Amino acid sequence: TGDTTFDIGFANTAVCKSAITYIDGDAGILRYRGYPIEQLAEKSSFLETAYLVLYGELPTQEQLSTFNDDISHHMVIDERIREMFRIFPRRSHPMPVLSVGVTALGLFSEDTIGFTEEKLDAATKRLMAKLPTLAAYGYKNSIGSPTLFPDYSLSYVENFLRMSFGSVTRPYEFSDEVTKALDVLLILHADHEQNCSTSTVRLVGSAQTNLYQSIASGINALHGPLHGGANQAVLEMLDDIADRGISVQEYVNRVKDKNSNERLMGFGHRVYKNYDPRAAIIKKHADAILRGHDGNDKLLDIALQLEEAALNDDYFIQRKLYPNVDFYTGLIYRAMGFPTDMFTVLFAIGRLPGWIAQYREMQADPTNKIGRPRQIYVGEKERNYVAMGERS
Ligand code: CMC
Repeated sequence: TGDTTFDIGFANTAVCKSAITYIDGDAGILRYRGYPIEQLAEKSSFLETAYLVLYGELPTQEQLSTFNDDISHHMVIDERIREMFRIFPRRSHPMPVLSVGVTALGLFSEDTIGFTEEKLDAATKRLMAKLPTLAAYGYKNSIGSPTLFPDYSLSYVENFLRMSFGSVTRPYEFSDEVTKALDVLLILHADHEQNCSTSTVRLVGSAQTNLYQSIASGINALHGPLHGGANQAVLEMLDDIADRGISVQEYVNRVKDKNSNERLMGFGHRVYKNYDPRAAIIKKHADAILRGHDGNDKLLDIALQLEEAALNDDYFIQRKLYPNVDFYTGLIYRAMGFPTDMFTVLFAIGRLPGWIAQYREMQADPTNKIGRPRQIYVGEKERNYVAMGERS
């Protein structure tokens, strides 16, 4: 058309209307269905917030109990999927394993065809119920340990912790502090409007691909280090600084150098040009959990020093780069006992209600169309085929 307007990385293009999540990136505001994230983190539970994100309103006691029961009763996965985990190499990264698990779940579910509300709701509850089971099995596989069956009598988060860290011979010892902190972290991740993985879920789903395959695609998108994979990258960065004894200032100088190709992981955000409100909440929990035992945590100290150095540095000030959600989460996940390659899996468990809500919102919108971006062609003009013998 001769029109040369384009928008790399969709930085300015709205592709949908949505009633789920509101973000004001300049003011550092995040709300799900109108409720401020600070209130939900303090007063809600992950399942209640998931209900809110999925269905639009906070549940009554009865609605929450039914939702909870529906989920508890679908936590077991088919034996053949459980067996499937045994074919992956030991130490496989649990993110691709999770995505394969979700795709496989679709093959074992009868609610994959059609977009009736009933089928989508059945698939919603199956996915909410089974994702933690798949995640724990991926983890057990990565460490070569036998898997455990879910325990209906436990809460969503307790059951996941037990399946991850318990064993047949050794019961998992629950800590209220850890259970609460994980619940809060999941709440903080429940939705974040049109980020890379959610846009992926919508784009794949816009072709009327089923919910399971669309969510599996979202998991793959989330794995990248510029997105959810940043939580793993932050911890690796802090470890690297500690192991090699690099000074914090030296590290900050390095990420400012455009030739280094390195970034301060856990810093910067496409939408927040202010402190990410999730990071502020997590920072408080990190302090409480990590200082709880001996008051001493070397990596937290490095993180705090990095934050201070960056927030006082012109490079970061001019570009409005602040800590994002991933800056402090890894420290807490590690303190809970998770290895670094499980961090992004925990993000995926938290983000699941958001992905599903966005997918369902899109399917329910009669104006929805298949996603199909355009391009500006910059290749060769028309030319004639050259026979093999005549090519130089
Ligand atoms: N360290 C150093 N410089 C940075 C950083 C950083 N973390 N983030 C952005 N910049 C610089 C970037 O080099 C550019 O500089 P210049 O204008 O001189 O070329 C400027 O800031 C703008 O950056 P951008 O890459 O154009 O910004 P973006 O909106 O495309 O990228 C981002 C956003 C989150 C990918 C990026 O800030 C980043 O790579 N951060 C580190 C990875 C990270 O923590 N990701 C988690 C994001 S939040 C949770 C999630 O999405 O899962």
